[in-house]
Amino acid sequence: MSDATATARVDRLVEWRTEFPTVESTLYFVSHSLGAMPRAVEDELRRYALTWKTRGIRAWEEGWFALPTQIGDIVGGIFNAEPGTVSMHENVTVAEAIALSAVDFKAPRNRLVCTAEDFPSLLYLYEGLAGRGAEIVRIAAHAGRRIEEGDVIAAIDERTAVVALSHVLFRNSQIVDLAPIARRAREAGALTLIDAYQAVGTVPVDVRALGVDMLTGGSVKWLCGGPGAGYLYVSPRMRTRLEPAITGWLAHESPFDFDSGPTRRDPGARRFWTGTPGLPGFIAARSGYEIVARIGADAIRAKSLHQTARMIALADEYGLPVSSPREAARRGGTVVLDVPGAEAACAALLAGDVLLDFRPGVGLRLAPHFYTRDEELELVMTRVRDEVRRAGG
Ligand SMILES: Cc1ncc(COP(=O)(O)O)c(C=O)c1O
Repeated sequence: MSDATATARVDRLVEWRTEFPTVESTLYFVSHSLGAMPRAVEDELRRYALTWKTRGIRAWEEGWFALPTQIGDIVGGIFNAEPGTVSMHENVTVAEAIALSAVDFKAPRNRLVCTAEDFPSLLYLYEGLAGRGAEIVRIAAHAGRRIEEGDVIAAIDERTAVVALSHVLFRNSQIVDLAPIARRAREAGALTLIDAYQAVGTVPVDVRALGVDMLTGGSVKWLCGGPGAGYLYVSPRMRTRLEPAITGWLAHESPFDFDSGPTRRDPGARRFWTGTPGLPGFIAARSGYEIVARIGADAIRAKSLHQTARMIALADEYGLPVSSPREAARRGGTVVLDVPGAEAACAALLAGDVLLDFRPGVGLRLAPHFYTRDEELELVMTRVRDEVRRAGG
C-alpha cells in the first residue's frame, strides 16, 4: 500500500471525533492516561439511573446481573478472548490481586518474576506477597528504562510460579515481546499474568495466539472507558485449576442458595467475581469498548504508528530528545520527550489546554489516538517546542 493510500485509510478514523466532544476544545494528547469520554456515556448513565429509579430491585433480573459478563465479552473481543472468559473488576490492581490469590507460593515453586518497570501499584502488591512466602524476582531495566525479553526469559525456571509483567511499559511506552516469554513460562510450568493496560486499545493483543494464562487491563486510557472498570481474562484451560482466595458470594456456582460453605466455585469466569459488581463503572466503560471494537485494533495501530512516527520526526527537527522507542515493533502508543524542565513545561502546557502528562525520570508523555487529526501533530509539537524554549531549554 502506498503512503498516500495508507493516509487516506487512516484519515477515516477522524470521523469518530464527533463522538468525543472533549477533543474539539483541547489538544487531546493524553489518552495513555485518560481517554476522551464518548458522548454516549452520558445517556448510558442516565438510563442506568432511570432503570434503578423505575424498576428497583427487579433491575437485577431484568439485565443488571448479566451486564458484567456481557461487558466483559465486549472488551474481551478486542483481544480475541473466548466468550465468557473475562470477569469485570474495579481496577487492574484488584483484578491482579484476585488472580494472584489463586497462586500457591510454596517452595520450591514460589517465585514471581516481574520487572522494575511494571506499574508501581502492582509492584506494591508483589511486595505484599513477599511477606506471604513469595520470592519476588524483579528484572532490572537497561538504559532508557528498557526491559530486555532475554533477561526475563533467563529468570524463568522450575522455581517460577508466575511471570507477571506489563506488555507495554507505562513510562517509556516500550512494547515487551510477550510470545517468547509466554513460551518459556509454559515450558517451565509457570503461569503468565499480563498487565496489558497500556496495550489494549492501541496495540493489537491476541490472548489465544500468545497463549497467556491471565491478562488484565483497565478502561481509563486507550479504551476511553472512564474509572471503575478493570478486567481479568483467564484462559479456559487454566480457569478451573484456579481457586482464588480473594472471592465472594457471586463467585459461587449458585449464589442465591446463600450456602454457608465450603464454597463451590462457578466453573466459568464468574469464579473470579467477588461481591456485588460496581455496575456504574462498567456501564460507563461500555461505549468506549464498543467503539474500539468496531474500529478494530489493527486500524488503530496503523494510525498510531503513522502519527507517532510523524511526532518523532518533528521532535528530531525541533531538537526535542525522544526517550520512547523509535522502532515500530517496540513503540507503544505514546511518544515520550525527555526535555529539560519537563514538569514545569507540562504545567504550562496544561494551563493552555494542551493535554499531556509528565512522569518523573522520563519526561513528557504525549499520545495521539484514533480521534487525533494529523494537523494536530504539528500544532502540539510546536507548542511543546515553544514552551521548552521559553523555559530556557
Ligand atoms: C501499565 C499500567 N498498569 C496499571 C495501571 C493502574 O491500574 P489500576 O489503577 O487500574 O489499578 C496503570 C496506570 O494507571 C498502568 O499504566
